[in-house]
Amino acid sequence: MKNIKKRSWAEPYKMKMVELLKMTTKQQRTKAIKEAGYNTFLLKSEDVYIDLLTDSGTNSMSDRQWSAFMTGDEAYAGSKSYYILEETIQKYYGYKYIVPTHQGRAAENILSQIMIKKGDIIPGNMYFTTTRLHQELAGGIFADVIIDEAHDPLSEHPFKGNVDIEKLDKLVKKHGAKKIPYICVATNVNMAGGQPVSMANLKELRAYTKKHGIKIIHDMTRVAENAFFIQQREKGYEKKSVQSIVKEICSYTDGATMSAKKDALVNIGGFMATNDWDVFEEARNLVVVYEGLHTYGGLAGRDMEAIAVGIVESLNDDHQRARVGQVEYLGHKMLEYGLPIVKPIGGHGIFVDAKAFLPHLTQDQFPAQTLAAELYIDSGVRTMERGIVSAGRKTNGENYYPKLELVRFTIPRRVYTQAHMDVIAESAATVFENRKSIKGLKMIYEPKYLRFFQARFEKLK
Ligand SMILES: Cc1ncc(COP(=O)(O)O)c(C=O)c1O
Repeated sequence: MKNIKKRSWAEPYKMKMVELLKMTTKQQRTKAIKEAGYNTFLLKSEDVYIDLLTDSGTNSMSDRQWSAFMTGDEAYAGSKSYYILEETIQKYYGYKYIVPTHQGRAAENILSQIMIKKGDIIPGNMYFTTTRLHQELAGGIFADVIIDEAHDPLSEHPFKGNVDIEKLDKLVKKHGAKKIPYICVATNVNMAGGQPVSMANLKELRAYTKKHGIKIIHDMTRVAENAFFIQQREKGYEKKSVQSIVKEICSYTDGATMSAKKDALVNIGGFMATNDWDVFEEARNLVVVYEGLHTYGGLAGRDMEAIAVGIVESLNDDHQRARVGQVEYLGHKMLEYGLPIVKPIGGHGIFVDAKAFLPHLTQDQFPAQTLAAELYIDSGVRTMERGIVSAGRKTNGENYYPKLELVRFTIPRRVYTQAHMDVIAESAATVFENRKSIKGLKMIYEPKYLRFFQARFEKLK
């Protein structure tokens, strides 16, 4: 009899309803991706078998969330659902004032308009596409202050999301603290591969910013995943719950923007939170212009109810173990096939190093965009580019050339099974085997903003 050495985890839920998927042939997929301009964002979702485009708004809601949906109060003003959401955010995240928004970028827009003056410097632990754009549209200049290891796909640093306080200090010395209204700290940094920030780093940053009168704004989109990594990797936190770690993280920050479409297990929603009454006052004014009254901010009452339940579910240790565990399962499978992935394995997806995968392509031939298209053709698995296309152009029109040229295999929460993970890894390994014959792409249409969403490409001959 085989010895049982390890005990496996399994999902802390079972399935009550399933969505049927359309199966396609390679010929159909080759046609579909060509029609989509080799941009996976422009594919029709019904032509996709396993959709790893994003973990944003693609979660499965629980029976409890669906039942909370039915109790949504759809009053224009003073909805009961708003107060439930407010109370949940105050209780679990600790922020004092909240303004709901229809999703994360709306919160970023409002916050940037309130806090940034023209010419201000906004440091951040790596850029995020929409966050940086809103900072720039408000007149700010983004400055990357993440540790160098974050830009190295091979570095196994356990907290690649950490802020390099020396880099921040250099900015303060160069521009003066008055030019830096806040530092934007993302937990479980998306663009670095879903990599966490340590509590020690946050504490150090809090002490530094306090001294210099700089606020910390928390992009808390994946804070619970970050908390799980702290529990697993940081000394002194092994026995603490994800819930208590999340509350501690938030306590070192002054306010937050949140896309509830990730951690909070819903399909739409977000909010801005702050501990500062003046910022809140201004946000309540602005939200009416862009979103709706401050007690719904672009959301239906039912959405706010589902977010409130989702926040609580996201803080459950077993949920996070299964969520991050599934990502790890896929990552280990890919490593077994010798695929070049960003290490350590991140929280919300596997990030494949497209420069190492397709070393014969230059960055101007869009290796990550090319690889995402090839994966789709092979198996109908939809991934997305996180490289030169996503990085876009500087305000002076020059292209950013990011060090990381990645394809993101983002895993939606509570959606796919381990068998899906096997199919994904096998497809990536098949494309890897045939990599030498893969040709790059040429961009033939480039939108002005956030070009990765709608850009079109042609295959190089
Ligand atoms: C780290 C991070 N911040 C902000 C956002 C923007 O949120 P939304 O898509 O809800 O506008 C996202 C979404 O992908 C994100 O990953």
